[in-house]
Amino acid sequence: MKVIVTENFNESCKLVAERIATIVKEKPTAKLGLATGGTCEDIYKNLIDIYKKENLDFSKVHTVNLDEYIGLDPENELSYRYYMNNHLFNHINIDKANTYVAGGIGDVDKIVEEFRSKVSENGAPDFQLLGIGVSGHIGFNEAGDKLHSLAHLEDLQKSTIKANSRYFEDESMVPRKAITMGVGEICSAKEIYLVATGESKKNAIEGLIMNPYVTTQNPSTILKLHTNAVVVIDKALADLVGYKY
Ligand code: F6R
Repeated sequence: MKVIVTENFNESCKLVAERIATIVKEKPTAKLGLATGGTCEDIYKNLIDIYKKENLDFSKVHTVNLDEYIGLDPENELSYRYYMNNHLFNHINIDKANTYVAGGIGDVDKIVEEFRSKVSENGAPDFQLLGIGVSGHIGFNEAGDKLHSLAHLEDLQKSTIKANSRYFEDESMVPRKAITMGVGEICSAKEIYLVATGESKKNAIEGLIMNPYVTTQNPSTILKLHTNAVVVIDKALADLVGYKY
C-alpha cells in the first residue's frame, strides 16, 4: 500500500481525477468501481473538467458503484443513483446502461445476486475509488467482528448514520440499512485509490497507515493486503496522524 500526501484536498481531488482520466485514455473500455459521499464530489468535478478540456471518451466505460441505501428509489435525491447521475454521469458521455448502482427498493436477495454478478461481469474492475468512514468503513462494510467478502445487506453503524445525517432533514430520516460491495470484491480491483480529508477521519487513517495490522475493527486495513492500493491524504491529515512525508 502506498501513501501519497498532497498539499491540500483540492490537490488530492485533482490527482485522483487525473489518474482515472489516464486509465480511461489507456483503456477506453475500462471498468471503474465508483464511490459517493462528500469526498468524491470534487473528484468528479475535476474529472468532468478533464472530460471537457480533453474530450475524454467514456462511451465504452462501464461502472459499478460501491453501495446504495435500502429504501431509497433511484429518483430520490438522496439515493446514490441520483448522486452519481447528478455529480458525474449527466455531465459526461457515458452510456447510463453501462453504469450500475444497486437498487435500493425491491427484493434484497435478488439485488444482492445481481450486484455480485455485476462486480465480476467481464472481469474485475480496473480501478476502484474509495472514501473512508469515521470508523474505517469502505463501501458500507462497517467495523465489527467479521467482514463480508461479497456484496450483502449491512446494518449501518450509529457513527455512519450520524455522519451521513448532514444530507437528510434529520438523523431519523437516514436509512438504517444499505447494500454494499464486499471487501473481497473491493480488493478484486486491479488498482484502488482511497481518498480522505478532515479531522473526522483521523482515527480511521491512523489505523490504516500508522501500523502494520489488519483488523475487522477498521475495515479499510484490508487494503494493506492489496498490492496496488494508494491512500491519498492531504498534509493537514498527515500531520494530524503524525505521518512523516
Ligand atoms: C460511499 C461510500 C462510503 C463513503 C464514506 C465517506 O459510496 O462507500 O464509504 O466513501 O462514508 O463519506 P464522505 O466522503 O461523505 O465522508
